[in-house]
Amino acid sequence: MRTTVFGATGVTVTRVSMGCNRLGDPGTKVEDWYPLVRQALEAGVTFFDTSQSYNQGRSEEILGYVTSQWRSPVTIATKAGVPIVTDDFPHRSFQEAGILQSVEGSLRRLRREAIDLYQLHSPTVEQLEHQDWAAAFDRLKRDGKALHCGISTSDHASGVWAIQHGLEFLQVEYNILDPTAEDELLPLALQHHTGIMVRLPLARGLLTGKFAPDQPIPPEQQWRRPRGEQLVRRLTRVEQLRFLERPGQTLAQAAIRFVLRHPAVHCAIPGARTAEQLASNVGADAGDLTDDEYQRIRALQTQWRSEGAW
Ligand SMILES: NC(=O)c1ccc[n+]([C@@H]2O[C@H](COP(=O)([O-])OP(=O)(O)OC[C@H]3O[C@@H](n4cnc5c(N)ncnc54)[C@H](OP(=O)(O)O)[C@@H]3O)[C@@H](O)[C@H]2O)c1
Repeated sequence: MRTTVFGATGVTVTRVSMGCNRLGDPGTKVEDWYPLVRQALEAGVTFFDTSQSYNQGRSEEILGYVTSQWRSPVTIATKAGVPIVTDDFPHRSFQEAGILQSVEGSLRRLRREAIDLYQLHSPTVEQLEHQDWAAAFDRLKRDGKALHCGISTSDHASGVWAIQHGLEFLQVEYNILDPTAEDELLPLALQHHTGIMVRLPLARGLLTGKFAPDQPIPPEQQWRRPRGEQLVRRLTRVEQLRFLERPGQTLAQAAIRFVLRHPAVHCAIPGARTAEQLASNVGADAGDLTDDEYQRIRALQTQWRSEGAW
């Protein structure tokens, strides 16, 4: 697996890493997920992104159990701010006391003495400006409980704010169907040498091409995917990307290769729920888009931009 230095943090990460928001999904047993994490490690993935809030801490627990038995170093990013039990995203909070309490639970579940990359879980600019999270970050770094601190962005404005205020790394949303991070955020990150990991490289699975634009997504597969007009628009655009499918490249792999091509991006963290999905995602590391494929994607994005909605 190809690796790179994660911007200002100096940490080495695999270019294709793993997002862990499916680990411990409702209705499953934690031990059912151990093989998936082992498969990632065996394939050479050394960087994983999770959160205390993913499946009420089960994602951290699964990751902690498997990686604690792994012989080589593994880098883990986790997040604070969204309540662990209720997963109440609208009521997330980034106050010092809450973060200092959260970190203890994350360290315990991850079976670690320090968190490599600790993130605020999608703060707004207003929360960044008015809550006392920075005191918690200072304290955690001083005490050696968090080695590097950053944010998982809620929108591009929060990412721009974080870079301008000296945070070392960000998690950002960026994919073929929504390249707007390129407008301001990614160029600024490049200038500041900010570590950038990309979430939703598959647009929550839409970029795998497995959903048809003229058929509704069955309720059991709806998960966190867009609905209505945006869903139809995006799936129609996915059909325009079918030229990316060729021997040695699935559409999903092309989507991961696209985000990795931006010079500000250090790694992608596609999520996986099954062994097949993980194998496909990791396989994206074994090649790159051709220049012609890249230019054709760019031309489509110019057209989509002119249509006024992503
Ligand atoms: N606010 C935040 O901080 C935040 C928010 C979202 C995500 N994240 C992080 O970013 C990571 C990635 O985001 P995401 O998982 O939402 O989006 P994603 O990586 O774009 O999509 C992943 C989903 O697509 C499907 N999939 C993955 N690989 C596939 C393949 N090869 N073929 C067919 N289907 C495939 C799976 O869902 P199905 O099997 O259900 O189709 C999987 O759960 C998360 O795991 C998490 O670590 C952070």
